[in-house]
Amino acid sequence: MTQEPTGGVQKPSSVEGPKGGFSTEAKRAVYAAIFGRRTVRCFRPDPVPEDVLARLLAAAHRAPSVGFSQPWDFLLVREPKTRGRIGQLFGKAHRAEANLFDEPQRSKYLSLELDSLSTAPLNVCVTCDPTRAGPIVANSTAIPEADLYSVCLAVENLWLAARAEGVGVDWVSLLDRAELREVLGIPPHVVPVAYLSLGYPKDGFPEEPLLESAGWGERLPLRSLVSYEEWGRRAHEDRWEELDALLEDS
Ligand SMILES: Cc1cc2nc3c(=O)[nH]c(=O)nc-3n(C[C@H](O)[C@H](O)[C@H](O)COP(=O)(O)O)c2cc1C
Repeated sequence: MTQEPTGGVQKPSSVEGPKGGFSTEAKRAVYAAIFGRRTVRCFRPDPVPEDVLARLLAAAHRAPSVGFSQPWDFLLVREPKTRGRIGQLFGKAHRAEANLFDEPQRSKYLSLELDSLSTAPLNVCVTCDPTRAGPIVANSTAIPEADLYSVCLAVENLWLAARAEGVGVDWVSLLDRAELREVLGIPPHVVPVAYLSLGYPKDGFPEEPLLESAGWGERLPLRSLVSYEEWGRRAHEDRWEELDALLEDS
């Protein structure tokens, strides 16, 4: 069996608490990573050390995957020439997207600082190889795109581990897939799922998503997204008050 980096990574047995869960401190750390994870779009120039990067990739590689297919690959991109070409793809797509909005939304969109590529010291392209597990992937016949979902979970694992390590991440989806494939030499059957910027945040981790603080969107109330037994059947107000109180106390 291959050894994976575990420096600083604790085994579940070392953070065990009552009832098979984690200790209070370990639970807090997990939720702190989840709630404190942010998209970071402006970075300091210092590189992500190799040991930190190894842990992030190991965390991504521990994601669940349909039929244990592990369809991901991680392509690390550091060379300025390659990054410059990808920056051009972004500029083109960004301008095209801006033109889809009418004023005043267009100006607002253009005022959002969405370009993480120009400052990130490292990019990682996370891909999906649908052929990884052979012609028939266990458990995926009803949902053929389950391999793509698996890759997204690997990205989320990396993103959460990065938050714990103090490393910021942006998912740059505004890139033409065919052109990205060509620049990075990705074979036609492999899907580039996520192009990520990584680095240490220049201004720390924002409390709120940029798109929220800039008034572009707001977080939906959880209660408007949960149904009971049947689509759209909501809980009574007092049930939510009870749940809110439980969250406050925990
Ligand atoms: C699939 C996916 C694609 C995204 N694409 C972009 C993108 O192209 N550019 C960008 O600036 N942020 C992108 N984001 C980040 C979202 O804008 C961000 O997650 C959202 O605004 C909430 O902010 P938070 O991540 O700080 O909580 C993407 C996120 C996801 C999950």
